[in-house]
Amino acid sequence: MPLATRVTSDRPSKPAGRPIPFARAVLAVAVAILSQVAVAYAQERTTPKDAPPGQRPKLTTDTGRPVGTDQHSLTAGPEGPTLLEHFYLLEKLARFDRERIPERVVHARGAGARGEFVSYADHSARTRAAFLSAKGKTTPVFARFSTVVLPKGSADTARDVRGFAVKFYTEEGNYDLVGNDIPVFFIRDAIKFPDLVHSLKPSPVTNVQEAERFFDFFSALPETTHMLTFLFSDQGTPASFRQMDGFGVNTFKWVNDKGDVHYIKYRWKSDQGVKTLTDEEAKVMGGKEPASLTKDLYDALKAGIYPSWELQVQALRPDELNKLDFDALDATKVWPESIVAFKPIGKMTIRKGPDNFFEETEQVAFNTGAYVPGIEPSEDRLLQGRNFSYSDTQRYRLGTNYQQLPINRPIDPVHNVNQEGLADHMMRKGDINYSPSTRQPEAPVEDKRALISATPLKGPVQYSAVKDPKDYDQAGERIRGMNSTDRDHLIHNLTGEMRKVKNREVVVRQIANFTRADADFGRRLAEANGVDFEKVKKTINASVAASR
Ligand code: HEM
Repeated sequence: MPLATRVTSDRPSKPAGRPIPFARAVLAVAVAILSQVAVAYAQERTTPKDAPPGQRPKLTTDTGRPVGTDQHSLTAGPEGPTLLEHFYLLEKLARFDRERIPERVVHARGAGARGEFVSYADHSARTRAAFLSAKGKTTPVFARFSTVVLPKGSADTARDVRGFAVKFYTEEGNYDLVGNDIPVFFIRDAIKFPDLVHSLKPSPVTNVQEAERFFDFFSALPETTHMLTFLFSDQGTPASFRQMDGFGVNTFKWVNDKGDVHYIKYRWKSDQGVKTLTDEEAKVMGGKEPASLTKDLYDALKAGIYPSWELQVQALRPDELNKLDFDALDATKVWPESIVAFKPIGKMTIRKGPDNFFEETEQVAFNTGAYVPGIEPSEDRLLQGRNFSYSDTQRYRLGTNYQQLPINRPIDPVHNVNQEGLADHMMRKGDINYSPSTRQPEAPVEDKRALISATPLKGPVQYSAVKDPKDYDQAGERIRGMNSTDRDHLIHNLTGEMRKVKNREVVVRQIANFTRADADFGRRLAEANGVDFEKVKKTINASVAASR
């Protein structure tokens, strides 16, 4: 049993003590040689060998047995039925039958690629994250750009948010920065996320995405207004993954060695600039080449054009959060750059598409709960929910041991007693699967550096809305900050979808939300949708009265 020998041979050896009698020494040498042979044998059995150069490898079954024919089933006589005995045929069909795994519940369609991140400087004054501890420090990354709502086979060109997820393979474990191409989000509390996604996904009756359903939801939830000014601008239809910025959206914490905390927000600034399509261009492009954004990325990489992004952060000390006149941890808001400037941190360059789409892009599992020492979640209510949801869905989508898949494995070995479950292939050694143990002197040790910072709390345990939600202010500022073309496109793109909504009350309520952001914009939107603006004003008055 080579495997068993391997297991026992790697147990911790006893420390040297009294002189060993000759017979025991011979026995020890023999055991050592035998165990080396067994290890070599086990490795030979488990490490795939390539055919010698110039020779084609032999076709094999999944157990490694050479295959006699890949063209014909084994049948009972020339005209008889196929025999159950044809194991290779059964294996081939059974594997095919199981090729699909559940697609991501959101962000199902995406393009992934490898590259690296280089830190501009030693950022240890703000964070003890090792990958940011020196100028020029280089960390391998895997990035995945995605659409959110529609399934894996849908078009890249749909009006949608784009995911911008980056996995850093650092020496202190993987750090996942799972962002979007829009700096804010629809909602501020994780409890609304399933409702948001249900309203945007195809109807459970018709299997068609319906404006009737998502505007019903958006119009009833004014906090979505700011996000809609991005989604329905041309930013909702990016021209390419290379030409879009990324944002962490949520607020995170950076903590240095002394325990000083900064609340931070991330931005990836594209060195290629930002390029968007008009609604019409996106529709034409979607007809001609539905995979246009994916192809653009891979064509560029093949041509040796490597896109890059600068990572930037905004940082505030805990006592500075009240510089902002809204809840700083509300994901429907940006931190105005006039108050908190972005500082450059480092650069990511993407260099290579995947060798295998399924094994890399499909099986990569990003997770907002994957932090490294020096980076922590903030108390942001949306982020707190996300920190549960990603690993939970990945256990369902990829299985309990999804972190052992090559694309998800950290670069340094994992040491803990977590084990077993479907497809566990850590090849652990020894019988100590509990902690603490006095039998394992070199057991992994805890690292106090990895403890998180202490957060002072006050007040009762409660269910409550954020104070002073200010749902319309930043939406209004954004609308007023647009040039006239962008504002016209926002009206045009919104109207294109709102015209499909049969329930006019929903349309009036949605226009009322935009009017509360900017009265002139609301009036123009009402006109474009054939809505009497007096009705909009009445709706606003009623909602203001109800909220008193
Ligand atoms: C409470 C709010 C949210 C929840 C519960 C949630 C949940 C999820 C889930 C379940 C997935 C699928 C993951 C997988 O199957 O591997 C996902 C993917 C993703 N989410 Fe969220 N999400 C939330 C908010 C956000 C926000 C605010 C952002 C942007 C900052 C975001 C960005 C992404 C991205 C980029 C992906 C795709 C990752 C990939 O490429 O594999 N999500 N989300």
